[in-house]
Amino acid sequence: MATLESTRASAPGKFILFGEHAVVYGEPALAAPLQSLRARARVSRAAAETPIGLFLTADEISLRTHYANLKPTHPLAAIVRGTLQAVGSSGAPRAHLQVSSNIPIAAGLGSSAATAAAVAQALARFLQHELSPERLSELVFEVEKLQHGTPSGIDNTVIAHEQPVFFSKGASTEVLKLARPLSFVLADSGQRSSTRDAVVRVRQRYNSRRSAYQSSFTEMGNIARAARTALARGDSSRLGELMCRNHARLQEIGVSCPPLDRLVEAAIRAGAPGAKLSGAGLGGHIIAHVHRGDGDRVGSALAAAGARSVIMTELTPSANAA
Ligand code: MEV
Repeated sequence: MATLESTRASAPGKFILFGEHAVVYGEPALAAPLQSLRARARVSRAAAETPIGLFLTADEISLRTHYANLKPTHPLAAIVRGTLQAVGSSGAPRAHLQVSSNIPIAAGLGSSAATAAAVAQALARFLQHELSPERLSELVFEVEKLQHGTPSGIDNTVIAHEQPVFFSKGASTEVLKLARPLSFVLADSGQRSSTRDAVVRVRQRYNSRRSAYQSSFTEMGNIARAARTALARGDSSRLGELMCRNHARLQEIGVSCPPLDRLVEAAIRAGAPGAKLSGAGLGGHIIAHVHRGDGDRVGSALAAAGARSVIMTELTPSANAA
């Protein structure tokens, strides 16, 4: 198959605004790309002296190996295999695949899905194909299943489409409508956690306390629908109130923890209209909605309350909104 000299692709991190965990049980959730953090992949034609096959390097995880040496269930092996199949390639090209990312791992920001998306697109381009966002999302979803067990599909969707979305499993995804730009601050608790573990823990508790968990999920779905309306109206105080209510439901299902609760409280004390954990929980990040111009003040309060780092981000009205 014909290849190019060198190709690149990148994909953003993501944050969940509303509905994490409930989305696994069929409720809607809202998520957006985090453009300031990205995973990147570069595929370049191997030098003549390089052994046959695809050689992979990923400095953040100290990986330097041949594709053929990776276990088939390794996420990089899985996305390479899926991409080769998707573009109809009979085998891996003789090339060097370099992966890098500034998305913290196991922090609720979609690092695994973004890495897979960047690799798939860079490799497809090397083989002279361009993956549509839909195809990219499907390929990444297969890898997410290997890593996380029963993912809802929200991470691959938001990362492949690079748009803020209202997502429900099995329904068509809507691009979120926004009346005006809205500001948010993400704060890192410094505690790392695995999405798979958090999802499994919720599943075990759901199996033993089904009606209590079902009513928390139903309520989170109602909150997500109300949040869609608040965003479309640009109603900051309603949005903030809904974030706090969503956090309380996430506490109820056992995925918050003291460092996350401390950060949520610090954001509210500093004047944020609302805050909640974001992502799988049990560590990772919180997200606070802030009034325009308040980001630095709330960010400093979060740092003083123990945040390892803070990220400012904005949701802006999209031309493609439904
Ligand atoms: C992870 O970003 C969000 C969860 O709801 C898991 C999923 O939807 O697959 C915790």
